[in-house]
Amino acid sequence: MTKAEIGLIGLGVMGSGLALNMAEKGYPVAVYNRTSARTGEFFEGAGDLRGNLVPCASLKELVAQIRPPRPILLMVQAGKAVDEQIKALRELLSEDDIIIDGGNANFRDTMRRFDELDGSGITFVGMGVSGGAVGARHGPSIMVGGERAAYTRLEPLLTAIAARYRGEPCSAWLGEGGAGHFVKTLHNGIEYADMQMIAEIYGILRDGFGMKAGAIGDIFGRWNGGRLDSYLVGITAEVLATADPATGRPLVDMILDRAGQKGTGRWAAVEAQMMGVPATVIESAVAARSLSAEKTMRVGAASAYGGRTAPAAREPEPAFVDDLELALFAGKIVAYAQGFSVMDEASCGFRWNLPLATIARIWRAGCIIRSQFLDRLALAYDADPDAAHLLLNRDFAAMMSEAHASLRRVVAHAALAGLPVPALSAALGYFDAFRQARGTANLIQGQRDYFGAHGFERTDAEGLHHGPWDSSRAEG
Ligand SMILES: NC(=O)c1ccc[n+]([C@@H]2O[C@H](COP(=O)([O-])OP(=O)(O)OC[C@H]3O[C@@H](n4cnc5c(N)ncnc54)[C@H](OP(=O)(O)O)[C@@H]3O)[C@@H](O)[C@H]2O)c1
Repeated sequence: MTKAEIGLIGLGVMGSGLALNMAEKGYPVAVYNRTSARTGEFFEGAGDLRGNLVPCASLKELVAQIRPPRPILLMVQAGKAVDEQIKALRELLSEDDIIIDGGNANFRDTMRRFDELDGSGITFVGMGVSGGAVGARHGPSIMVGGERAAYTRLEPLLTAIAARYRGEPCSAWLGEGGAGHFVKTLHNGIEYADMQMIAEIYGILRDGFGMKAGAIGDIFGRWNGGRLDSYLVGITAEVLATADPATGRPLVDMILDRAGQKGTGRWAAVEAQMMGVPATVIESAVAARSLSAEKTMRVGAASAYGGRTAPAAREPEPAFVDDLELALFAGKIVAYAQGFSVMDEASCGFRWNLPLATIARIWRAGCIIRSQFLDRLALAYDADPDAAHLLLNRDFAAMMSEAHASLRRVVAHAALAGLPVPALSAALGYFDAFRQARGTANLIQGQRDYFGAHGFERTDAEGLHHGPWDSSRAEG
């Protein structure tokens, strides 16, 4: 058989789907997995696609099977495993070969790997892939960072396997170095925010109105035909409608209320904090997952503080259901505005020149946060690529003006009923602070000057000033 066009290491959930996807698009792939039984099992299960797959028992064999210059895609656990594979491959690869890390790497690790491989003759690419198992198999969203020339070499293959939105491939080069993995991190941070806000709306309907899962699923299903049309709202409707085969009850009622996280959402919040860009909706969503993990403590607190008010005797009025829809939409606008602000700041700080419209565009299909909404977001950045903030874009300002009163009513309702809505509240708090021309930081500046002589600017004069405080009472 002819030589493979690419090598792939790691036949887990993502690697196996990507290998089949490439094989199906006509690219012969040499595959290797640390546990060799998995390689055999994968190959046996590949059916008609076996003709485009070359199972390899060692890295040496894998390298020998690929046509030089060789691209090799790593789809192994992020972290130490990636460093181990790079170390092993360095011994075997030649000038111009490319190592692509397609896992969920921390972009700071990616930048370190670029430095470590610098001068080795091997090209490195940090590539974010989103879409889960189905995306990997049938079309993910692909966010590439590294040298543009490396992307040009990989482009035909990546655009062939990527998802398509109205014919346009959801794959793009986003910038040098860690740009691709940074954007993937923000994608995941926004994904946390989207999921948390959906869960909060579910909580209001379940605990505030005593609605059954199926009925709540119907509402999400309806919303999925409108402005909230998105993969996550669609799967929410399906999850809520699914019965547990063991008990016949709604499956969601049988699932423990403790959510996991692998770290990428948290990295998004940490990076936002490090850059001094508020990403409060993402931060709230990450924190909510952490609190969800404290099940025993929450059970103790529920008995220490008592429950919230009893659910309403009636189902919500249609007008309130409309408010919930708009509140979720408003929260989404704020979460995306924050996430894109973080990327904008990183773009300057790391000199990536991130193409924000392109990012929105390659998220329209294939990835977990795919939605119709991202099409509007792409258009907003097309119209104004240097927009200072998404909330100042005319189209988004109009949408937010229509939706924020609903967000306020929903957050107020939840607060009075004792229902937790940390992400929706964060969105509202941010929005209110964002549009406050005269904020309250004047008092903070007074306090800072009082205890630390930090000085303050005056509204009526230039320069740095100090208050007439009694400095002997200051404590530093
Ligand atoms: N699952 C998703 O939805 C998703 C989505 C986007 C990105 N990702 C990222 O994609 C990457 C792969 O994820 P996955 O879900 O496909 O993982 P997975 O199903 O758990 O598979 C992990 C793969 O990594 C290999 N591996 C682990 N440690 C290794 C080591 N020290 N040396 C060599 N190989 C090692 C495993 O080989 P063995 O069979 O020998 O254990 C296996 O092939 C991760 O970075 C993940 O965060 C996942």
